[in-house]
Amino acid sequence: MHFVTIALTTICCLGTGLSAIAPAPAAPAASAAVGNPAAPASNFYLELRSVMRNVPYKQIEHLVQAYLLNDAEFQALIREINSLPTYRLRMQLLNQPELRQFLQWLSQQLILSGGSLKVFEDLELEIKVLNKYPHWAQSVNGIGGFEQEFSFIYPLAAIRNLLETSAQQSAVFGEFWQRVVGLKPVYERFLATTQAKAFANRLRTLGVDVAGLDSFLRYQLGWSNDTVIPSYDYDYNYGFY
Ligand SMILES: *[C@@H]1O[C@H](CO)[C@@H](O)[C@H](O)[C@H]1NC(C)=O
Repeated sequence: MHFVTIALTTICCLGTGLSAIAPAPAAPAASAAVGNPAAPASNFYLELRSVMRNVPYKQIEHLVQAYLLNDAEFQALIREINSLPTYRLRMQLLNQPELRQFLQWLSQQLILSGGSLKVFEDLELEIKVLNKYPHWAQSVNGIGGFEQEFSFIYPLAAIRNLLETSAQQSAVFGEFWQRVVGLKPVYERFLATTQAKAFANRLRTLGVDVAGLDSFLRYQLGWSNDTVIPSYDYDYNYGFY
């Protein structure tokens, strides 16, 4: 399965890209609330934040740190993600008109509800350069090991469920989810480009389960209803803490 180095990186990069294109912050929501006491009880920014709180951020940060410091395969993957061609690919993706439109809408809705795209900065990882626990040096197990541990800690189905439930409970969140689901054709079009295919090949060469990553993204973002079933047996004696 798996994935998520990239999912995560995509989200982080997106977050960073987002802040870059985000319009200047609007007046604080507090003043809007004062002027409009009849404001609806639902608040998109808070709703989105509460969904994002289910991302086990600290655990992911530890996992990424352990692998980044101690695992050569994972280090190669991170170098690939930070290479110039991959940077260009990311820009190419962010420049897709539908995605730009989506981000503009998202930014507006967040500002209207008292937040901003900075909400995604919470997902940025802070990696320190020394092992937090000495056994990290021996507990890493290549990209496959990372994928396995990531899928073990990331509540994919629960988050998908929460996205759908939230969409039913609030009009703006409903539109948000509809728009996310509506990005599927952009994703398909992007995957079909020569540059994206070359990137997928480079990932495969590095040992990434690209098909698993693809299923993960599709399921998480509502582009597919096929649950991602881990294809391995997790060894519970071999956690990374
Ligand atoms: C997933 O299931 C929902 C509810 O049955 C449906 O509305 C939606 O179209 C399905 N999505 C895909 C990508 O098949």
